[in-house]
Amino acid sequence: MPNDFEHSITHCHATMIKEDFQEPRWISDMDFMAPPAVISALQEKISKGIFGYKTMPLTFFTSIQDWILEQHHWKINQEWLVHSRGTISALSMLIRCFSEPGDKIIIQQPIYHLFGQIIALNNRVVVNNELLLDEGHYAIDFIDLEQKLAIGAKILVFSSPHSPVGRVWNKKELERVGELCLKYNTLLVSDEVYADLVYPGYSHTPLAALSDAVSNNTITCMSPSKTFNLAGLQTAYLIISNPQHRECYAKEQQRLDLTTPNYFGIIALEAAYTKSKEWLEDLLIYLEKNINYVTEFLQQHFPEIKVIRPEATYVMWLDCRELGMDSSELINFFYQKAKLGVGHGYKFGLGGEGFVRLNIGCPQEILRTALDRLIRARKLL
Ligand SMILES: Cc1ncc(COP(=O)(O)O)c(C=O)c1O
Repeated sequence: MPNDFEHSITHCHATMIKEDFQEPRWISDMDFMAPPAVISALQEKISKGIFGYKTMPLTFFTSIQDWILEQHHWKINQEWLVHSRGTISALSMLIRCFSEPGDKIIIQQPIYHLFGQIIALNNRVVVNNELLLDEGHYAIDFIDLEQKLAIGAKILVFSSPHSPVGRVWNKKELERVGELCLKYNTLLVSDEVYADLVYPGYSHTPLAALSDAVSNNTITCMSPSKTFNLAGLQTAYLIISNPQHRECYAKEQQRLDLTTPNYFGIIALEAAYTKSKEWLEDLLIYLEKNINYVTEFLQQHFPEIKVIRPEATYVMWLDCRELGMDSSELINFFYQKAKLGVGHGYKFGLGGEGFVRLNIGCPQEILRTALDRLIRARKLL
């Protein structure tokens, strides 16, 4: 394997092992350095020393179009693409474009906590279509979803692949979501930031690639941030095939003066998408080894913690309900006793209580230390 993830630790902030956790940590980036091609592209631009205003180069669009065609077999037109600083800021803008204060917006908990927070901060009402968990497998509760759509929700914010539960929704599930939203005239905002981080045996289908009708009713959010560990460069993009939707978003961009991208983010995106496919392939192999390591370790040494095996993403959703702890006891166990920075399930909303989110985007040595600490803490129980 040419890319060495074993030693490429960049910093300790994403690392879950620390002595002094004061509060829950919500880091969802990786400990790895960005791909070498990204680093050298940035270094080259930095050495030129010109950092004035830039317009969007054509290559920004073509590199995304080629990447999505190759990775996800989806042919998108250049004019469908609009940049954004991040998925969550885009979500906030879309909520303002396509709903009014007091309108209902559906999410599917347990879900990344900022979905609900951004909806509430915009004075819209969060409606939860809680996922079903059956024998370690998550599914969409379609009966509940239809009831919630029928009461008149304006938007469904969909996570695909789903974070934190790690599901890669299959075509049948996606078709049902797409059809139901069309039936009830509910806009789909599909957050697909984890689309590239899918493990062998699974395949991501972009929701909007299903049909022209679904595409017309869907706004897709994608980004190289998760895939290539570039979140700090604040460069994401939306795919909007419906011209009216695009116009609305463009107006919101203008209103906020967010029409220009981050210069370095554009350079990084291009180098990632055009020169770093092999790095991603190696990363997925490494991450899968980490998943296997954690799974086997817990099965052997801490079987009360059940692994929900991720089909995608670099987070593992661990079912700790058998420990019989309430939220504050679980926090105390992980932070104070084991000194591990995990994401606490209750923060992800209903269905999250009793779970933790473990970030495995790190060298295996860190996971080894983390799991040893967990076993030591278990002895104190
Ligand atoms: C599902 C999901 N969407 C979006 C984000 C954040 O994306 P961005 O940094 O582009 O706002 C995260 C971060 O963890 C996430 O888990």
